[in-house]
Amino acid sequence: MLFSRASLLFALSTVVAAAPYEKRWFGGWGQGSNSDVLESFLDFGKRHSWRGRTTTQGQCNVAAVQMPQAPKPLPPPSEGLTLYHVAVGRGTQNYTCDLSNSTAIPIAAGAVASLFNVTCMSADSPTLLSAIPNIALELPTPTATDATSPINRDISGHHYFTDLTTAFFNLDTTLSTYGAGGFKKTNSSDAPSTAVKGQHGQGYGSVPWLKLQAKTKDECVFQEVYRINTAGGNPPKTCQGQQAAFQIEYSAEYWFYS
Ligand SMILES: *[C@@H]1O[C@H](CO)[C@@H](O)[C@H](O)[C@H]1NC(C)=O
Ligand SMILES: *[C@@H]1O[C@H](CO)[C@@H](O)[C@H](O)[C@H]1NC(C)=O
Ligand SMILES: *[C@@H]1O[C@H](CO)[C@@H](O)[C@H](O)[C@H]1NC(C)=O
Ligand SMILES: *[C@@H]1O[C@H](CO)[C@@H](O)[C@H](O)[C@H]1NC(C)=O
Repeated sequence: MLFSRASLLFALSTVVAAAPYEKRWFGGWGQGSNSDVLESFLDFGKRHSWRGRTTTQGQCNVAAVQMPQAPKPLPPPSEGLTLYHVAVGRGTQNYTCDLSNSTAIPIAAGAVASLFNVTCMSADSPTLLSAIPNIALELPTPTATDATSPINRDISGHHYFTDLTTAFFNLDTTLSTYGAGGFKKTNSSDAPSTAVKGQHGQGYGSVPWLKLQAKTKDECVFQEVYRINTAGGNPPKTCQGQQAAFQIEYSAEYWFYS
């Protein structure tokens, strides 16, 4: 869904108006009257006891949480697996172009993203969570060296590629150890037609929703990962005017099953 900045501010400020918060996501974007609301969005799920569903802080009951479906649904998690972790990813999709070929199209060359823990938000405020990738896309990615960035207290790990077909999820950090492993894509489904085109509503569309499976079964505590509610990340249709390597900003939710 395409949100204008004004409507996002409005929607969020009505929800979090009475909420205590700390600034979790800083950056130049949105410096102005309502910027504190946007800067605090990822903190939201942690601090609220919605209708008593959150038991203690940082713990929540995900047993009944339903993962959102693509218009053409991805296959469900395999029998016996349960929801383990939910993260918002913010980073770039990488592409390469063969500049010697005038009809070349961009080729996917991995992705890099920081992952932020929104597990409790998936249980306590699923509607707000589904808007987070669109919001995150408009905010800068805090880097690991931004020691002062409060959002780094919510970090659950990092996503990157170890080779062209191995999507790696490293959820082991100094804050928590949720596991790590290499995954391969097993299914893909187009993002809804209403998905954002890119930052500021400009771009080439949102990357597909995916199902991924652990490459080695026993390597990792989580076995299947979904990329859903994508925002941005698609490349241009042709390489005309592109560099040999370039990045497209994106955000998405990652749902981990173990
Ligand atoms: C992807 O999942 C859908 C729905 O379960 C299924 O119909 C389709 O065959 C799958 N595609 C691949 C490539 O496995
Ligand atoms: C962070 O992730 C863990 C594991 O999924 C979960 O138990 C915890 O409640 C999460 N914290 C928040 C604030 O969502
Ligand atoms: C140029 O790119 C097109 C589109 O990807 C491809 O079909 C074609 O084989 C490429 N030509 C060469 C010489 O690599
Ligand atoms: C993707 O681009 C980022 C930013 O330039 C870079 O740090 C990273 O190494 C690239 N990853 C891959 C797999 O090309």
